[in-house]
Amino acid sequence: MCGIFGCVLKNGDAAPIIHAALKRLEYRGYDSVGEATIHEGRLLTKKGQGKIDEVHETYNLDALPGQIGIGHTRWATHGAPSRVNAHPHTDCSGKIAVVHNGIIENFSELKKELEERGHTFQSKTDTEIIPHIIEEELERNNTLVEAVHSAVERLNGSYAIAVISVKEPGKIVCVRKESPLVIGIAEDEVYCASDIPAFLPLTNNAVIVENGELVVLSDKGYEIRKIVDKSSVTRKPEVIDWDPAMAEKQGYPHFMLKEIHEQPFCIRNTLRLQEQYLELMTTFLDRAGEVFLVACGTSYHACLAASYMFSKLAMLATHPIIASEFVEQHGRAVNIDSVVLAVSQSGETADTLDAVECARQRAATVLGLTNIIGSTLTRVARAYVCQQSHPEIGVAATKTFTSQLSVLSQLALRLAKKRGKVSHVEIEQLEEKLEQIPDIVEGLIETQEEKIKQLAKKYRDKQCFFFLGRGVSSASALEGRLKLLEIAYAPALAYPAGESKHGPIGLIEPGFPVIFVCPSDGTRKTILGNIMEMKARGASIIAVVEEGDEGIKSLADDYLEIPPGLPEILSPIPYVIPLQLFAYYMAIERGCDPDQPRNLAKSVTVK
Ligand code: AGP
Repeated sequence: MCGIFGCVLKNGDAAPIIHAALKRLEYRGYDSVGEATIHEGRLLTKKGQGKIDEVHETYNLDALPGQIGIGHTRWATHGAPSRVNAHPHTDCSGKIAVVHNGIIENFSELKKELEERGHTFQSKTDTEIIPHIIEEELERNNTLVEAVHSAVERLNGSYAIAVISVKEPGKIVCVRKESPLVIGIAEDEVYCASDIPAFLPLTNNAVIVENGELVVLSDKGYEIRKIVDKSSVTRKPEVIDWDPAMAEKQGYPHFMLKEIHEQPFCIRNTLRLQEQYLELMTTFLDRAGEVFLVACGTSYHACLAASYMFSKLAMLATHPIIASEFVEQHGRAVNIDSVVLAVSQSGETADTLDAVECARQRAATVLGLTNIIGSTLTRVARAYVCQQSHPEIGVAATKTFTSQLSVLSQLALRLAKKRGKVSHVEIEQLEEKLEQIPDIVEGLIETQEEKIKQLAKKYRDKQCFFFLGRGVSSASALEGRLKLLEIAYAPALAYPAGESKHGPIGLIEPGFPVIFVCPSDGTRKTILGNIMEMKARGASIIAVVEEGDEGIKSLADDYLEIPPGLPEILSPIPYVIPLQLFAYYMAIERGCDPDQPRNLAKSVTVK
């Protein structure tokens, strides 16, 4: 995700401080970098595409005079990685500079209005509209604080921004809405940043900025106000006792746990996707003679779940295919009437790209769902959606999986709407439930995490696990198995529950742990039978079950509860959360490194 930084010094140059701070934000992932300072009434900017050291080599980021400045590491969401899309962005006069982390949902319409009023734009980013709106507000004789305040009231979406202007050269004005923002307070300097590591070596006195707050930094320190009523907020700094390594994980012991907890934020991001990209994908899917959903690993499990969504909602039969088998299985059948939707968080998985190349050679339409703009998949796909999960550092896919599911369910919903396969009432209900998912996930983590930690202690020494589910939950079962297997090195099997009678049940003996993913949907009756079959053979039943389902809870040795009332096709998102946490805590119990599991790479770029 993007990183922002700003500093106001009482003496000395800001640029080297900004440069060093941006280096400490590199772990967030980025493709370009930039800085701006104010010196003797002039705004000075340097920026470029590439890593910080490369851009510094080319432009010398430290050679920017001035005691006040802002900086940015960009993770592309709107507009490919390039120098012109790099932040800071400025207004027409070149007197205002802005850096931003987040997504402005209504940037297209604001940009159109601004262009109609004569503003000219250099980049394709959503961010660039912000300095131009501030420019207009300043022209109405507002102060910089008033101008920024008025500007953010017109923005929808998520943002952490820092703004400087030659009109008031001693101030940085920053605002937070959802995207993180912290303030660092040192003896003669004050900082704003996306994350504590940026200034931790300079000070461990930090103030966390809350949602909907505006902060003014100057050589007098910091002042916090509420956007809603401009009231002043008093908040004392807290002392941060993290070491730099912990600070990169925002205090979590591992990136994987941090990323499991980030899922509500990431899913909210997927609910802000630009309409036109989803619409384009839906149109291609609607016109397809046949649809293949192609991916590997966790992304394949997202495709498997999506095949139920497309079928149940849009009455579209799709073929989820493990990418490494695509050429063998369908290489000769795929044709000009085929659509291949490739799902890959890295956008670089060799097996998936291989399948895509085969499809392209057969004139099929290739669509992409990925987390990385500028990845190979975005270059070879006819159309793609970026899921905006920000970088996933842990090798095990967690937040990118639930974000993929969220995007795929939106595509299924749009397709159902386009095809008139579901009523408007049903569509509104599903859309409303989708909007509730981030809060449900947030609550679920809060209420179940401690219990899951205990479960991991209880089952730590078990030698093999079953994961069973029916319908769309069979995809959740497969994903839960993969998580446990890849980071806790626990041998595990996963099947559609109905299949367990056809062989796998032969493994069951007293105490054998069987994890059932069993929402109270249309499959409940049959899965109840599977649970009883396993129980009759002495298995230890662990059920991920809907709150209040006393029937299943009474059969389980242990259970984890999911809030009720979720539509069946959305259930994989919340139901996988306990399985992710179980795998994580089993890894801890077994002394494994959840972030760097043995033998695995984050992106498998070899076949
Ligand atoms: C999942 O935890 C693994 N890291 C792995 O299975 C991964 O999902 C697979 O390699 C696909 O990666 P991609 O989404 O980047 O294509």
